[in-house]
Amino acid sequence: KEAKLWGGRFEEGVTDAVERFTESISFDKALYKHDIMGSRAHASMLAKQGLMSFSDKDSILEGLDQIEKQIELGEFVWRTDREDVHMNIEAALTDLIGEPAKKLHTARSRNDQVSTDFRLWCRDAIDTILARIKHLQVALVSLAKKNDGVIVPGYTHLQRAQPVLLQHHLLAYVEQLERDAGRLVDCRVRLNFCPLGACALAGTGLPIDRFMTSDALGFTAPMRNSMDAVSDRDFVLELLSGNAIIAMHLSRLGEEWVLWASEEFGFITPSDSVSTGSSIMPQKKNPDPMELVRGKSARVFGNLVTLQVLCKGLPLAYNRDLQEDKEPVFDSVKTIIGMLEVSAEFAQNITYNRERIQKSLPAGHLDATTLADYLVHKGIPFRTSHDIVGRAVALCVYKNCQLRELNLDELRGINTVFDEGVYDYLGVENSIKKFSSYGSTGSECVAAQLDFWVSKLGLN
Ligand code: ARG
Repeated sequence: KEAKLWGGRFEEGVTDAVERFTESISFDKALYKHDIMGSRAHASMLAKQGLMSFSDKDSILEGLDQIEKQIELGEFVWRTDREDVHMNIEAALTDLIGEPAKKLHTARSRNDQVSTDFRLWCRDAIDTILARIKHLQVALVSLAKKNDGVIVPGYTHLQRAQPVLLQHHLLAYVEQLERDAGRLVDCRVRLNFCPLGACALAGTGLPIDRFMTSDALGFTAPMRNSMDAVSDRDFVLELLSGNAIIAMHLSRLGEEWVLWASEEFGFITPSDSVSTGSSIMPQKKNPDPMELVRGKSARVFGNLVTLQVLCKGLPLAYNRDLQEDKEPVFDSVKTIIGMLEVSAEFAQNITYNRERIQKSLPAGHLDATTLADYLVHKGIPFRTSHDIVGRAVALCVYKNCQLRELNLDELRGINTVFDEGVYDYLGVENSIKKFSSYGSTGSECVAAQLDFWVSKLGLN
């Protein structure tokens, strides 16, 4: 058996069970690119600071290039007895170039190394997620553009409430996604500080230049406090929280599309390319991708809770528990990317069944609130208007008809304030025309919102 990199003070090796239990190489090899990036920056800094020769630095850089190539070609042998990605790469570098490699870990610990690697990894992950968010926004805005003028029922309590433009409805999701992106952008700003050079926890007496490595790795600045640098994972929690909120939004979108694709609603038909069938019921066509978007949100929430519980009892500074921070993040990021991608594909493959939607609009007295506004225009206090319209609705329920089907005598029987002008407010088309407040579902407001998104997303 090979001696451990840390083996000097030990008289015997670890048992197989301990080795299997403590290894992280099976998953943290995903950090290899960022680990190598960090080592390159560190070696260059050590050479510049006179802590290693420039020729040693050059052989380290060449060796790291080769190792990176081997990994990318699938030729690199990851060894469990070398524990984690950091020691695998360092030991392989020693195998490859010999003595110079032994200088690489000068003024560095795996504690600052792993925090650096992970921040770099999360930074890239955020950039990927941001691109996927935008892609979904584009899909939703394009879907909205295709459905100009379509009115749908708006719901509260899943009961019919007021008519809204379908475009307005779709753009609500686009707004949510914009805030989701904003949260990740904020998280990226805060995580972008460099732990490298914090070493194990206390820093070092060797003359390193932390500003140089921080710059080389694209960080804003080195972290101020070495103990904080190696011990906190709040950046991970922020990313996981951001993902959890995205997952919640997508789960709601998924639920709605599943509902709207049902026979009972029948508002949308997803194309075959985003539907799956049943192994027993030949007629079935199910919206499984969006059900799974809803379902996979569960693990994204779970991953956040895992990290919170993982960190909550840890005294300063590094604790090995922190090795458990990676798999939940890898899973959360992979899941969110999949959820965003499949939601965008679904959006690209939905048809709104306009006729069916149109036929359903008379139900539910969607124009009742507009009617109350009509009475307000006539000088009636809103609370009284509400009561008058409530009586009109009761009459409709009794007669099984729509508000606009009540004749003027019937309306005047409830209150004499009604005149011919009332019919200008009744029916969903008229009702929609009356909305004019900022952010409302009125045609002009929605057109302005759509213009805003078209230009913000560069779709014009
Ligand atoms: N594999 C470890 C992790 O992911 C790296 C740091 C280990 N440090 C230590 N002193 N054991 O956290």
